[in-house]
Amino acid sequence: MKYAVTGATGHLGRLAVEALLERGVAPADVVALGRDTAKLDDLADRGVQVRRADYDDRASLDAALAGVDRVLLVSGTEFGRRVEQHTAVIEAARAAGVALLVYTSSPNADTASYTIAQEHRGTEQALAASGLPHVVLRNGWYLENYTAQLPVYLEHGIVGAAGDGRIAAAARPELAEAATVVLIGEGYAGQVLDLGGPAFTLTELAAEVSAASGRDVTYTDLPEAQLVEVLLGAGVPEPMAKALGDSDADAARGALYLEPTDLEKVLGRPATTMPEAVRAAL
Ligand SMILES: NC(=O)c1ccc[n+]([C@@H]2O[C@H](COP(=O)([O-])OP(=O)(O)OC[C@H]3O[C@@H](n4cnc5c(N)ncnc54)[C@H](OP(=O)(O)O)[C@@H]3O)[C@@H](O)[C@H]2O)c1
Repeated sequence: MKYAVTGATGHLGRLAVEALLERGVAPADVVALGRDTAKLDDLADRGVQVRRADYDDRASLDAALAGVDRVLLVSGTEFGRRVEQHTAVIEAARAAGVALLVYTSSPNADTASYTIAQEHRGTEQALAASGLPHVVLRNGWYLENYTAQLPVYLEHGIVGAAGDGRIAAAARPELAEAATVVLIGEGYAGQVLDLGGPAFTLTELAAEVSAASGRDVTYTDLPEAQLVEVLLGAGVPEPMAKALGDSDADAARGALYLEPTDLEKVLGRPATTMPEAVRAAL
């Protein structure tokens, strides 16, 4: 059985490739896909098959998926272009006779209004229309989105627009592990899994950073437009700043909340909590 992972040059894809190898899949049965295969040379040296796959280049996708049985489609990064890009991967997978495609979606993608959810919803619809056996992983926000900001939090405090909304963030390596369990497992086809960790509010995040660091870190809730201004001022590109602003605002309405049960079930253990992640990162 051959397993392909798209986006293997990125964080989640790379972690998924490593998780496949750790679970005993032979390197020759793992196909690591990326736009820039030079970033995958070390995997090729370990016997992993490395192939070029650009979501904008259908011929590259057809060649990359030849002989592949199951695909982990890691969602791309180009806002506004992703439904078209992901649909190209889905069509190539169907043409190649792939038996299962696992897709990384986002929280409550079927109902939520935040911008990022729209493209995931579009991709989920394309998958449903394709007839290809598939699994939708509605991945929670990464805990790393928050722990990467710890130096900023310690200096300036936490700002957001999420109010008291609970955010079911999960550790990225655990989301990669879960994707791998589903990819090589049986009985998941047709399922939508909510892969979220134990949820917290940004006020609770601030309290935890304070307790763990011994510093006084507060959470300031801003109107969405003001949060977008802060992000633009920090150098975040406009489409990303707007998307982050409206996802935070939608989090206040519960859009980033997920029950933690699916992730725990797939991992076979409790997921990493926000306090554990904060303390480890500090
Ligand atoms: N849950 C969250 O909090 C969260 C946060 C950020 C992103 N995401 C989503 O989850 C995905 C995986 O997260 P990550 O941390 O691994 O992101 P990442 O490190 O930015 O990796 C994104 C991957 O997508 C690939 N990619 C982008 N456009 C492509 C294209 N046109 N053709 C082929 N490959 C393409 C990138 O390739 P290159 O190396 O060539 O750029 C890279 O391998 C992201 O792409 C995004 O959709 C989720």
